[in-house]
Amino acid sequence: MAATDPELFIPTSADGSSILEIACNIELFEPGDVEVIKELWSEFLTKGDAKSWYHFIAARRDGQVLGFACYGQRPLTQGTYDLYWIAVDKNHHRQGIGEILLGEAERQVRERSGRLLIAETAGKSAFEPTRRFYLKTGYELEARIRDFYSPGDDLIVFTKRL
Ligand SMILES: CC(C)(COP(=O)(O)OP(=O)(O)OC[C@H]1O[C@@H](n2cnc3c(N)ncnc32)[C@H](O)[C@@H]1OP(=O)(O)O)[C@@H](O)C(=O)NCCC(=O)NCCS
Repeated sequence: MAATDPELFIPTSADGSSILEIACNIELFEPGDVEVIKELWSEFLTKGDAKSWYHFIAARRDGQVLGFACYGQRPLTQGTYDLYWIAVDKNHHRQGIGEILLGEAERQVRERSGRLLIAETAGKSAFEPTRRFYLKTGYELEARIRDFYSPGDDLIVFTKRL
């Protein structure tokens, strides 16, 4: 039986531990990644969705938070946004939750008059599923900066015109 679609919502402080737990359990994320997620989450909570530079969206089913996305406008651009993070609970991958979260992030960016969404990821083989996810959801491989993260580990830039 197919799982029912998750409910999308703007998370509040009560969801912080679930969001950070999802991030901590993603094996691809380094401790430094989780620290950055914590910083963005903290700014989002302190300033609120209306004033924060970073915007979080979450998905839940039966009260359980299953994933989140975080996006924000790229400073000094007109209508260019970054998808900073997207992560789904590792026990709920391939259920369409990531695609639903990304679709909502795109809808919100459009609503804010955004026109271009950028998703950066790494070129190493562990990120192949992530790259497939972006290609499947309509992103174009726009650029590769070789040896960006470390020698042999490239930065891959995906874009979508909204
Ligand atoms: C990337 C991620 C958010 C995708 O979430 P998800 O809910 O599992 O993805 P979906 O079920 O919505 O997948 C949509 C499509 O993307 C593609 N896809 C997703 N995961 C894939 C995988 N592991 N291998 C191959 N294709 C994949 C498929 O085409 C899939 O459609 P299908 O299942 O009908 O074939 C999730 O895998 C994740 O949390 N990864 C770790 C964190 C990460 O890499 N984040 C991005 C960088 S910040």
